[in-house]
Amino acid sequence: MPEKKTFYITTPIYYPSGNMHIGHTYTTVAADTMKRFKQLTGYDAYMLTGTDEHGQKIEKKAAEEGVTPKAYVDRIVANTKELWKLMEVEYDDFIRTTDERHTVIVQKIFRQFYDQGDIYKSQYEGLYCTPCESFWTATQVVEKDGVKCCPDCGRPVEVTREESYFFRMSKYQDWLIDYIEQHPDFIQPQKRANEMINNFLKPGLQDLCVSRTSVKWGIPVDFDPEHSIYVWIDALSNYITALGYGTDHDELYRKYWPADVHLVGKEIVRFHTIYWPIMLHALGLPLPRQVFAHGWLLFGNDKMSKSKGNVVYPQPIVERYGADALRYYLMREMPFGADGNYTNEAFLTRMNSDLANDLGNLISRTVAMIEKYFDGAVQAPQALEPIDETLKAHALALPGLVEEQMNALQFSLALQEIWKVIGECNKYIDETQPWVLGRGEEGKARLSTVLYMLAECARFAAVLIAPFMPKTPERIFAQLGVTDEALKTWDSLATFGRLPAGTMVHKGEALFPRIDIKKDLALLSGEDEPAPEKKPEKAPKEAKKPEKKPQEIPEGCVSIDAFEKLSFRTAKVLSCEKVEKSDKLLSFKLDLGDETRTVLSGIAKAYPEPEKLVGRTLVLFANLAPRKIMGTLSQGMLLSALDEKTGALRLLTVDDADSVAPGSEIG
Ligand code: MSP
Repeated sequence: MPEKKTFYITTPIYYPSGNMHIGHTYTTVAADTMKRFKQLTGYDAYMLTGTDEHGQKIEKKAAEEGVTPKAYVDRIVANTKELWKLMEVEYDDFIRTTDERHTVIVQKIFRQFYDQGDIYKSQYEGLYCTPCESFWTATQVVEKDGVKCCPDCGRPVEVTREESYFFRMSKYQDWLIDYIEQHPDFIQPQKRANEMINNFLKPGLQDLCVSRTSVKWGIPVDFDPEHSIYVWIDALSNYITALGYGTDHDELYRKYWPADVHLVGKEIVRFHTIYWPIMLHALGLPLPRQVFAHGWLLFGNDKMSKSKGNVVYPQPIVERYGADALRYYLMREMPFGADGNYTNEAFLTRMNSDLANDLGNLISRTVAMIEKYFDGAVQAPQALEPIDETLKAHALALPGLVEEQMNALQFSLALQEIWKVIGECNKYIDETQPWVLGRGEEGKARLSTVLYMLAECARFAAVLIAPFMPKTPERIFAQLGVTDEALKTWDSLATFGRLPAGTMVHKGEALFPRIDIKKDLALLSGEDEPAPEKKPEKAPKEAKKPEKKPQEIPEGCVSIDAFEKLSFRTAKVLSCEKVEKSDKLLSFKLDLGDETRTVLSGIAKAYPEPEKLVGRTLVLFANLAPRKIMGTLSQGMLLSALDEKTGALRLLTVDDADSVAPGSEIG
């Protein structure tokens, strides 16, 4: 037997700072679907997921709960594994960055970088408040009588330097630009590659600070243990440490590396397409074949975030409708690469239209008619008519079409192709009118063919949906009476007509019962069942309900709803210069992770050397309506503090900006 071709797919490793929500589920389900698809089509596929457990965020969360960071993450990791099980995710390995198999190799990698001169030790300059043990930048400190003081405790700060290790990113910049240009599939969708080249690589890479002495919850540099290794160097390495890279047991590494695709959210493309390739190249290792950036699941116009209280968790949905329904929705609703919305209403509507109506009805009608007209036995088809030939041709073309879309990670388009044929089958029922054919003996021969066509198409659909909906195919096969495993394979779809005559169908429960959307919407949002609209007998019950008073908003305040419409995001300064012919305005180019914006700000007097702001992370009011100022469209407002007495103006910045991706929501 020739060796199977391998396929290695990864998800990002998630921060276990809280339980995973539907956004994390989206990436993980996509990876699992792709892995299952590759297995179905004959590959030896391997899927890795895991958790990114170090860093200040986790340290802080654990402290808030009064537990050790390890105890904190252990609990979240257990919940995460439960969730993936609930979602039918079959990962091959789950790596935790606290695993010893990971930490020792990260230390080894760091040491190699140092030994070969890619990492050097230098000074990170800042202003230090000894009582608070905090570094501050020149713009963060407050001045009292000409003395620079700590903004937290008000005591004087000293100019201090923190020793740090730096990675010579700049050394690899030209190589990387060239690599990306020579490998157009490396970063997908293409627009993300353009963003990386234009926004980060061409303007010039800065050397990256890759160690912290102030962060204790991290992997220590083994030859200088005061320093913790920067979380992204630690995290990105997971993709190879999990395979045993750098150990005596590196069979998996040799078998599966380079990865075929790293799935990542659009906000972490930069780390995966700049730092990670440079790290690998410096180690002399091949690069992953592709990094695919998918979009966000939004809630309204917002990315889900716990602080906004708009997080959707999969558990209640799965408990009520099953994992397959949610998996279908996630893979069908939005094109992979674009943002999309999650709403219960859209989910329930799709369940009714695609699952209950299109797929569910096809199966139930087919099985019911075979039972009714032929006592449950599938009949051999007779000579095909043109309408049958057309349907057969479409069914036979389907695997190729689905494979093409899947290879481009276009899950929703692959499902659309399958549903086109399901729709065609339902139309075929209306056109061939089996209930008319079944009225007399003369129609029976034709009816045999019609029902055979439908049963065989249903078998095709069951095989093709398996990667997306792992449990549903068996339920369809049980109704169709398909027990032979050979008829459940991808290869069996090369021939139309493999379902044997004489197969006995068995009507079962509806695959996806129709939903009363209004009622279920209320249930999902945790409210009582809504009272029926016109039934007076329900009136007394309604009358008992306490009336919900609209919340009073004191003058000068805004409601939480109004606040939630505002979007504040972190923005990293790519460039900053004075606007010609203006003594007030500075023009900023800002990195928001998924886009670059131009913003004008009237703070030129406060910042006579604007170029010094490059690299700083500021706070942007991001959904202020754009407006033209002196011929330039300004897209947002940078927040700053104004001391009304002295007129001093200072930009708001973000604490420990390195640990926050540009464009992060503030709330
Ligand atoms: N730990 C880093 C990744 C390190 S990978 C070497 C991290 N973790 S994260 O938990 O913040 O997010 C990980 C991924 O979760 C995102 O890249 C994205 O894939 C996914 N998502 C989190 N929220 C999401 C949505 N609302 N919508 C879609 N995906 C989202 O970044």
